[in-house]
Amino acid sequence: MRVLSVTSEIFPLIKTGGLADVTGALPKALMRFGIATRTLVPAYASLRPMIRDRRPLMEFEDLLGETAALYAVQAEGLDLFLLDAPALFDRPGGPYINAEGKDHEDNWRRFALLSLAAAEIASGALPGWQPDLVHTHDWQTALTSVYMRERDCRVPVVLTIHNLAFQGQFSASLLHAIGLPPSVFTTDCLEYYNDICFLKGGLMTADLITAVSPTYAREILTKRFGMGLEGVLSLRRNKLWGIVNGIDSEIWDPANDPHLFARFDQKTIGLKRLNKMELQNRFGLQNDDGPLFAAVTRLTWQKGMDMMAEAADEIIHGGGKLFILGQGDQAIEAALHAVAERYPGRMAVQIGYDEETAHRVHGGADSIIQPSRFEPCGLTQLYALRYGCVPVVSRTGGLAETIIDANDAALSAKAATGFQFHPVTTDGLRHALRRALQAYASPKEWRRLQIQAMRANYSWERSAERYSNLYANLIRQAGGRPTASKLSL
Ligand code: ADP
Ligand code: GLC
Repeated sequence: MRVLSVTSEIFPLIKTGGLADVTGALPKALMRFGIATRTLVPAYASLRPMIRDRRPLMEFEDLLGETAALYAVQAEGLDLFLLDAPALFDRPGGPYINAEGKDHEDNWRRFALLSLAAAEIASGALPGWQPDLVHTHDWQTALTSVYMRERDCRVPVVLTIHNLAFQGQFSASLLHAIGLPPSVFTTDCLEYYNDICFLKGGLMTADLITAVSPTYAREILTKRFGMGLEGVLSLRRNKLWGIVNGIDSEIWDPANDPHLFARFDQKTIGLKRLNKMELQNRFGLQNDDGPLFAAVTRLTWQKGMDMMAEAADEIIHGGGKLFILGQGDQAIEAALHAVAERYPGRMAVQIGYDEETAHRVHGGADSIIQPSRFEPCGLTQLYALRYGCVPVVSRTGGLAETIIDANDAALSAKAATGFQFHPVTTDGLRHALRRALQAYASPKEWRRLQIQAMRANYSWERSAERYSNLYANLIRQAGGRPTASKLSL
């Protein structure tokens, strides 16, 4: 089976968050089900060296008035199509923001172009390769199925919602500039309160919608989590599935992690202490017996990181330490710095994005905190489990279903893997932290939690199988038969 995955980020080539982890890991996991994925991604400035001195597979003479070229590249075990449109993608900054930290003003055009290129490939523009199915991710590629419908292309499309908070809402005056006719500006396609909404267009035209956990798939049908799209999603609820993300268990493996000072597994978990010492020394934290709590996250309201500044007292007065790696909202960054200054040796904050430190934090921390207000899936808590960090999480979205709260029943069933709290308030978080501190005070109980956490299996295997079944059903329903998976490129 041939799948075209279309995405704005993919690990390890370009990443701002969990979307990249998923689009990077899923193709590898799908391989064992006979699915060959090609991923279409923009040739951002940092990826252009990969196409230097290569010949394009094809050229688009007019994609929204731009010329663009398509390159086939294999890298990091991934089969990629890089879309080179230098005027739109070869520039400083990240995939979504410029060097000053503001959204690229033409994001609507950049991601419309990416989606249009995907629709062209799905419709057979590329000699010798056409997908059996297209998989799009979030608003950035959601227009693909709208363009495909306009081309009368019947290849089935799966749209995965990673985060409904980002919808790609723009002025209706741009409709012509993204190459779409007035006929799609209706409530059952792109129209959204007089604007155009890329994500809504995708939700209305994709053959199947998945959300990244079953709990989130239910939550987004409600006003509280639907972010204004709950009505649209309710209309399409019989096409909506929840499939929990997995983790790349080769990249996130404490027994084989090149970033760790000391590698360990369930049997040698005692070695984790060495990583903890190394981490504490590096960030100026005291090397005493207190538990080390940590967070690796975007510093945003979604992630509840505004609550951390207040909750830090609970940890530190309880004898613990806190390390935060993240970046995001400047007010949150400043508040965290201010608390850290009050607690030299007990709390440290590292602002920035640093993959290696993220691994070391999981290697050394005793507990990872994720107090999200909403969390479609969340990967940090899954990495935490694998690395024997006991997660403290809010009970929402993927966090609700991947962490088993250490209540009496779960403890006696030897199933508990972490601490949950609800409702998501600072008091709730404080209470959960107190429970964690208490458990840490009993080394035997803590070790049991760590081992149970490490035993939880969130590799991609099961979820990839679910995707592969959904793909196969869709292709069958569309009247097609999957092509042999070998790529002819
Ligand atoms: P989201 O995608 O909403 O940010 P996830 O938990 O799904 O949340 O994924 C976040 C990913 O980004 C994880 O791989 C996490 O390790 C990584 N990450 C987040 N912030 C940082 C940071 N400051 N430095 C390094 N990695 C980070
Ligand atoms: C989004 C969500 C996060 C999820 C990730 C990957 O960024 O916020 O919860 O894990 O996508 O699906």
